[in-house]
Amino acid sequence: MSETAYLNGEFLPLEKAQVSVLDRGFIFGDGVYEVIPAYSRHPFRLPQHLARLQHSLDAIRLANPMPDADWTRLIQELIARHVPDDQSVYLQVTRGVARRDHAFPKDAKPTVFMMSGPLVTPSKELVDNGVPCITAADFRWLKCDVKSISLLGNCLLRQAAADAGAAEAVLFRDGHLTEASASNIFVIRDGRLLAPPKDHLILPGITYDVVIELAAACGIPIETRPVTEQEVRGADEIWVTSSTKEVLAVTSLDGKPVGSGRPGEAFRVVYQEYQEYKRKVMRQAA
Ligand SMILES: Cc1ncc(COP(=O)(O)O)c(C=O)c1O
Repeated sequence: MSETAYLNGEFLPLEKAQVSVLDRGFIFGDGVYEVIPAYSRHPFRLPQHLARLQHSLDAIRLANPMPDADWTRLIQELIARHVPDDQSVYLQVTRGVARRDHAFPKDAKPTVFMMSGPLVTPSKELVDNGVPCITAADFRWLKCDVKSISLLGNCLLRQAAADAGAAEAVLFRDGHLTEASASNIFVIRDGRLLAPPKDHLILPGITYDVVIELAAACGIPIETRPVTEQEVRGADEIWVTSSTKEVLAVTSLDGKPVGSGRPGEAFRVVYQEYQEYKRKVMRQAA
């Protein structure tokens, strides 16, 4: 089975899916997207991903091209058309094809595109040993809560991390932690979990919510509040979270060990809970 895409109402081979060069996604990066992990063919936290899609569409003043029930049906069909049990579903909606003009076109039809590939979660080696990260100034725009396809800032920051052989760039703005180039960041200090608030400076991660729920269930005290750069640099543990990374320990920051330099105890507990939670949710969905 070759990779299948969904484009504007039809399923077709990925390599046959084409859009106009006048698509505003291509010309302006004028669109939004979602990445939804599917475990054992069940999309994980789909209603939450669709709610975040709606939030992004509202923020860019683009009407949702279909109701959630249709999204759900199409995503399930896309998953069914692919071989791996665990998949990463990518969807994007752009403002469609129009003559180039920054102002919105009056009658363009949104372009709806979806594809799916194997979900590659971190290896046991990465889970057991953690990952190095660098830090960088967060120079992105002030609507980081919108899951925009305009990702140039994130790409530059992610590349800076890649150039340094690091997994992620942990970002600071005005002396405070925001997130990382493609993930959220948590800090453990003195047994407490510190999480930056879900405001306009970070993407409200679906995994962020899962991690907070699981940490609370484990009895870890949680403080959702601005976290200073100093608190991050002196952290006992740092975690990086996203739909594909799940939860990973950061064991060095700018070349200096985080805490003991090994994944911490709180990480191990929450990582295990995360795996158990996934299994439970998938059992319920089956
Ligand atoms: C900038 C940014 N922050 C946070 C996240 C984590 O979001 P989620 O947990 O929904 O994958 C992502 C995911 O791609 C991201 O790109």
